[in-house]
Amino acid sequence: MALEVFHKDETLQMRRKLIGQSCRLFFSRDPVKIVRARGQYLYDENGMQYLDCISNVQHVGHCHPSLTQDAAAQMDLLNSNTRFLHDNIVLNILQNLFFFLQCFYEANDLALRLARQYTRHQDVIVLDHAYHGHLTSLIDISPYKFRKLEGQKEWVHVAPLPDTYHGIYREDHPDPGQAYADTVKSLIDEAHKKGRKISSFFAESLPSVGGQIIFPTGYCKRIAEYVREAGGVYVADEIQTGFGRVGSHFWAFQLQGEDFCPDIVTMGKPIGNGHPIACVATTEEIAAAFTASGVEYFNTFGGNPVSCAIGLAVLDVIEKEDLRGNAVRVGGHLKQLLLQLQTKHPLIGDVRGVGLFIGMELVKDRASRKPATEEAAHLVRRLKEERIVMSTDGPWDSVIKFKPPMCFSIEDAERVCTCIDQILRESAISHQYVQIVTSLALGGTRILVVLESGIVFLVCRVDYAFWQKQELWVSPCDYNKLHSCCQLPRQSHGLHISSPDGTK
Ligand SMILES: Cc1ncc(COP(=O)(O)O)c(C=O)c1O
Repeated sequence: MALEVFHKDETLQMRRKLIGQSCRLFFSRDPVKIVRARGQYLYDENGMQYLDCISNVQHVGHCHPSLTQDAAAQMDLLNSNTRFLHDNIVLNILQNLFFFLQCFYEANDLALRLARQYTRHQDVIVLDHAYHGHLTSLIDISPYKFRKLEGQKEWVHVAPLPDTYHGIYREDHPDPGQAYADTVKSLIDEAHKKGRKISSFFAESLPSVGGQIIFPTGYCKRIAEYVREAGGVYVADEIQTGFGRVGSHFWAFQLQGEDFCPDIVTMGKPIGNGHPIACVATTEEIAAAFTASGVEYFNTFGGNPVSCAIGLAVLDVIEKEDLRGNAVRVGGHLKQLLLQLQTKHPLIGDVRGVGLFIGMELVKDRASRKPATEEAAHLVRRLKEERIVMSTDGPWDSVIKFKPPMCFSIEDAERVCTCIDQILRESAISHQYVQIVTSLALGGTRILVVLESGIVFLVCRVDYAFWQKQELWVSPCDYNKLHSCCQLPRQSHGLHISSPDGTK
């Protein structure tokens, strides 16, 4: 199969013209064209290898040969409508009731319907900054999206994110799990006062878009008690976190202890390793209430033999390659390395996570915990130059998130941390900065500097330069380079350069 049909520039132009612009590219200023992949590595059109730290969809590794073989074999034999009898859909299901679907968002939409049908209540409690999918019904329960759109519906109640680094109760609180669960109890009480009824508490087991948050101990159990007392159910969105990503357990909700179990679990991304398949698991009681409505549920392709063959192959690979064990070993090592970096770099405010679900939060200073958004974006850009694909998340896009394919190795973890160390040392930008009327980063190490007088400089090879609004942040050695590149006396033509010791 041809790796590419068009030259990269042509593909980019066509994409810009033909594909809706709200569907953004990674690294939109200088996108990469990936034409093949294997394991945790991506390859561009020139054969250049990139280390993938973010593709949690390709859970067992890109293009895993066991999966492609099983998929091809099943496709060669049969793919059919889900309403014919076939073994693949029932294989590997040991207990509970499952519904199979084609896409992750469908799983969450179905979970909403199940909860409402079972409880006969309408309202939903969600966590701040949550994202549960792009359907209209799910945008309504995704503060991350609806805050930028029409706003909050009257049947949606938003609980604070239990973030012990930034939130209202922090790591020094004696029982943040209870304290944050009580915020949910208050929402239930307020809703009841208005005559409203709660159908469900809907949350990711580890909020990812919210910034790789780990729930405090006891949080989910308390909430499940409060919500069930109110006649509602607990829905765990495991679309990003399920299938062993946390290493120690198969589901992230299990981190909350043996005595907690959600009523509905939605599964997605890792289940098909990139093939569109999703699933909802629930209790017999909830499924029976859904059936009792008399409305038939059918989903033409959800759970078709090919999708299920791939789902089964994913489960096999997780077991055979001990990917959960790998997540414990490699994730543990990665976290340790990041914690070591934290002792060296004040920019790293927090390192949190479990297994191969890790977040490194950058802050402008540790006392205020002010998010270092631009610095995080810079780090991601520089890592891309080192051929490492990384991205940010969290309310301020200040959290560097690690969610690599589960075959990520110790060497990969060490390579990433060495690069992060190097980049943060280079941009030990501390207090040196150059003020410029307008500046434009052109990608790579080139910066276009526009002065008030209209003079334009193309500043090349100012390694590690860092632009931010009207200021160009430079490391101590780059400060001198920039100064000589521009060949300008200090403070002339609107270019203000502060000296490395901070004096002007
Ligand atoms: C936690 C979570 N739930 C659900 C979804 C499904 O969203 P989509 O509409 O992109 O399939 C996503 C996708 O990123 C997600 O992160």
